[in-house]
Amino acid sequence: MKGVTVITHPLVQHNLTRLRDRRTRPQEFRRVLSEVAALMLYEATRSFTANPVNVQTPLASARGFKLSREVVLVPVLRAGLGMLDSILQLIPSARVGFIGLKREETTLRAQSYHKSLPADLRRFEVILIDPMLATGGSAVAAMDLLKERGAQRVRLVNLVAAPEGIRRVRRHYPALPIFTAAVDRRLDEQGYILPGLGDAGDRLFGV
Ligand code: PRP
Ligand code: URA
Repeated sequence: MKGVTVITHPLVQHNLTRLRDRRTRPQEFRRVLSEVAALMLYEATRSFTANPVNVQTPLASARGFKLSREVVLVPVLRAGLGMLDSILQLIPSARVGFIGLKREETTLRAQSYHKSLPADLRRFEVILIDPMLATGGSAVAAMDLLKERGAQRVRLVNLVAAPEGIRRVRRHYPALPIFTAAVDRRLDEQGYILPGLGDAGDRLFGV
């Protein structure tokens, strides 16, 4: 699928399998989701631009690089929180915005309940983080909020995506790069991804 990068690295796939396993309890689920997020970040940031700079080593001058733009990480609450800490460790200078969305159970519409974002996102690289892309309603709602703040360079990092969700995101945001560890079969009647991993928020936090 155009614009969708499926990260097939064996460590990512190994960890995804542990997360899918129904026997994985919240304590382990949190740890493994955090680890896999860090691994996925390498791929998701591969096309970040960097400017050449000179640096003095103890012995001589060396050519190096500095990221061209500041980064804003935006986890979608709740489940996106499970991917935040390890990514923040890799990009400690990043700012962190939050978007709170909850799918309404019957309509599957994403209801927004929280937003805290920089006033102007134009100059930033934005990484939108949510383990699950199901109907795509949450991702589109989150993107709408980022666009309202002027975001121009956004990447969406999911762990598991459904074809339905990818299609919906594509309809609204055709150029948004999506990084995921898996594109699963389809959604079930309740809007859960099959085979998926269940309710990511519940599995992370136990409620
Ligand atoms: C889950 C998940 C995504 C959303 C995906 O969140 O973390 O945000 O569902 O579904 P969609 O693509 O159909 O919108 P949920 O609304 O269950 O909230 P939670 O993370 O607080 O449990
Ligand atoms: N949200 C989840 O947490 N899991 C799904 O399968 C779909 C939406």
